[in-house]
Amino acid sequence: MNLSIFGCGYVGLVTGACFADLGNNVICYDISKKRVNSLKKAIIPFHEPGLDTLVLNKSNDKKLNFTNSIDACLKFSDVYFICVGTPQKTNGQPNLEFIKSSIQSISDYVDLQIKNKKNLSKKHIFIKSTVPPGTIKKLSRKLKSRKLDSFITISSNPEFLKEGSAIQDFMKPDRVVVGSNYQDAVEVIRHLHRPILWKSDRLLTVSPESSETIKYSSNAFLAMKISFINEVAKLSDAIGADINDIRKGIGLDKRINPNFLYSGIGFGGSCFPKDVKGLSYVYKKNNITPHLVNATMNVNDEQLEHFLKKIFAIYPKKSLKDKTFTIWGQAFKPNTDDIRESVGIKLVKRLSPLVKELKIFEPIARKNSQAEHSQLDNVSFATKISSSVIRSDALIICTECKEFWNIDLDIFSQLNDKNIFDGRNILDKSSLLSSGYNYFGIGR
Ligand code: UGA
Repeated sequence: MNLSIFGCGYVGLVTGACFADLGNNVICYDISKKRVNSLKKAIIPFHEPGLDTLVLNKSNDKKLNFTNSIDACLKFSDVYFICVGTPQKTNGQPNLEFIKSSIQSISDYVDLQIKNKKNLSKKHIFIKSTVPPGTIKKLSRKLKSRKLDSFITISSNPEFLKEGSAIQDFMKPDRVVVGSNYQDAVEVIRHLHRPILWKSDRLLTVSPESSETIKYSSNAFLAMKISFINEVAKLSDAIGADINDIRKGIGLDKRINPNFLYSGIGFGGSCFPKDVKGLSYVYKKNNITPHLVNATMNVNDEQLEHFLKKIFAIYPKKSLKDKTFTIWGQAFKPNTDDIRESVGIKLVKRLSPLVKELKIFEPIARKNSQAEHSQLDNVSFATKISSSVIRSDALIICTECKEFWNIDLDIFSQLNDKNIFDGRNILDKSSLLSSGYNYFGIGR
């Protein structure tokens, strides 16, 4: 099948490359010339394991192409996946400007074809971008007012990709959701996913409003699980329990399961914070108070303060000005160079004005973090994990990168004060304590 993808960001690129890998001919459109030129050379603008090789292979096979020409994209196929960004406005409302302009281009193109009395095949638009429930209804009304509704369908097909494992999530989905009022559109999605869904039918067909709500509430529910365990971690700290044991005990109940119950310094990234606030906005628009959704965000915002209090309890603010700290991890999660809404980034911004120096080691997102902190004079970046602890007083872990978990404990002998603040609970507390270090985790 020929497919057109609007937007060569994270979702668009993964979707385009994976559909090409499943045998389709794919063209990906983006407004940025720089981005398209790089993509034509298989240079990916962000880090996602396996994506560069997949893009290179599928481009060489001529299954995957990139263009700045919206006309080329429109002419190429009858199936359009909208994967453009929906950045957040200050009131939490997502900005749908890019979605609207994509639909406008498709509508104008179809309109012109009708006026030129061209033979026209039906066009199917699928919105992959995260949009507030009710968006597709509004966009469909607009099509109807332009008398284009018998030529174009708009449906929802949300993505559930995690950064760092997006290709696997695409190829082995827990479910594929299509929200549509049109059987022919549903059949397109069913056909496209046959190679990955043939073993178990996980295609869920619902209304556009339900599909849009499934996406928002999936992210909000996962974020709520994280905020829940982070709140339990505070109690665990107060009474001297161990949150890692509590997580296991709770998670062994199959109804709860242990996923997304890792306590830490809070969730970040381009999705959870934006979608939780976006959902809160939708509730308010419908005159419903979003108690749990709001609490999820509030607990998350407080989590960094909880961690900082642990640091300030050992280092009263006055003593900080003579202290050098090592920070491990700045990306919002491991295996990505994405630092958007990263709690580690916020922590550095909070500590930098108070301390003598911060030495950061970040294995993947170094370039982005360096650019983010370029104005902070007392922040430096180590190229090796071993050099990051030299002449430092304490270590603070912000991201659970794989190279930190089983680090040789001897490395900590460099720390003058022998203090380790583990914001992701990944180090072996008992080994550290028995080796003479002071360990401060979250909820343990
Ligand atoms: C999230 C969802 O997991 C995907 O299903 C969804 O498709 C995606 O948003 C999206 O809407 O596009 P992602 O933002 O890539 O994916 O990252 P997650 O793995 O969900 O992690 C989000 C944040 O939660 C990270 O900061 C992570 O460190 C934190 N987290 C995660 C915890 O603090 N504890 C956990 O137990 C799990």
